[in-house]
Amino acid sequence: MYKAIIRPILFCFDPEKVHYFTFSLIRNISRLPGIKGLFKSLFMVEDKRLERELFGLKFKNPVGLAAGFDKNAVLYNELANFGFGFIEIGTVTPEAQKGNPKQRLFRLKADQGIINRMGFNNEGLSAAISELKKNKGQLIIGGNIGKNTQTLPEDYTKDYLECFNALHPYVDYFVLNVSCPNVGSHAKLNDKDYLLELISAVQNANTTFSKEKPILLKIAPDLNTQQLDEIIELIAETKLDGVIASNTSVDRSGLKTGDQRLSEIGNGGLSGQPIKEKSTKVIKYLADKSNKAFPIIGVGGVHSAKDALDKIDAGADLVQVYTGFIYEGPSLVKQINEALLK
Ligand code: FNR
Repeated sequence: MYKAIIRPILFCFDPEKVHYFTFSLIRNISRLPGIKGLFKSLFMVEDKRLERELFGLKFKNPVGLAAGFDKNAVLYNELANFGFGFIEIGTVTPEAQKGNPKQRLFRLKADQGIINRMGFNNEGLSAAISELKKNKGQLIIGGNIGKNTQTLPEDYTKDYLECFNALHPYVDYFVLNVSCPNVGSHAKLNDKDYLLELISAVQNANTTFSKEKPILLKIAPDLNTQQLDEIIELIAETKLDGVIASNTSVDRSGLKTGDQRLSEIGNGGLSGQPIKEKSTKVIKYLADKSNKAFPIIGVGGVHSAKDALDKIDAGADLVQVYTGFIYEGPSLVKQINEALLK
């Protein structure tokens, strides 16, 4: 029903407007009596065999919603009824910011992809916290954190620390997002020495809380093998809890969408089917080269149960979806969980 009826209608409209429209629709529908139960019966697969224990957390199932969908933590309680094992909110920055000028979100229908240059639009830390105080505790919540666009390089760490300290009581794990192609900070956030400094600062802050929270690093799918080797060294040196591979890509090769359309769209991070192989390769490289030394959350182009199983075969412990959720609809989560049980 989603692909035959709902998607064709939604895809007639501006992608960002559709995003907000869908949010209010889900929120309003979820308030109706019986809807929560209906969604659960349609989308949720509950089975002990799907449970995963990772970095001290117990996930109901290994399929999560990737960061960027519920940036401001306003819909995670309702989205929990769609069968996810975990939801990552954010990227949250200390201050609210508008992000890049619109239009900044584009569908690549021929490729089953999306290009976005949202630029960390979000309502800021305090807004996210007031939403997280409403957590009904149905599933694991990840907090994906970043820095404000205007922040000077010498203050990047301060931004991450501010988010980390303030969100600590409200999320189950953290993600240091250092791989967004839409914020002009790449050189520094790709630099191993800086990452060492950032990770150590956040880890030190972690020890000041009575219960430490797992911290993961989210990386780009465009890193070369030398850069991936550095990530492996970094995780070994810092004993960070894991890696999320991957964020969106700046590579445009092999797309069915024509060059003219691509140049009209302009810059941004590519997600969905076109980055599937790339991100799976990154997962496999990290897992094989490190001898599976750390947990990996696999994300990038998961549009079917097979795509998710390929990521798990490559070395992912958990998977996340974003673009696939938009193209395939909410039954994707159920399809993956059912396939995992077979
Ligand atoms: C994203 N993604 C993202 N990631 C992140 O760490 N912080 C963010 O704020 C966002 N924002 C965002 C917005 C939009 C519109 C998209 C499409 C994606 C990246 C996302 O979490 C994921 O890593 C990639 O999209 C790859 O997965 P999919 O979309 O191919 O399943």
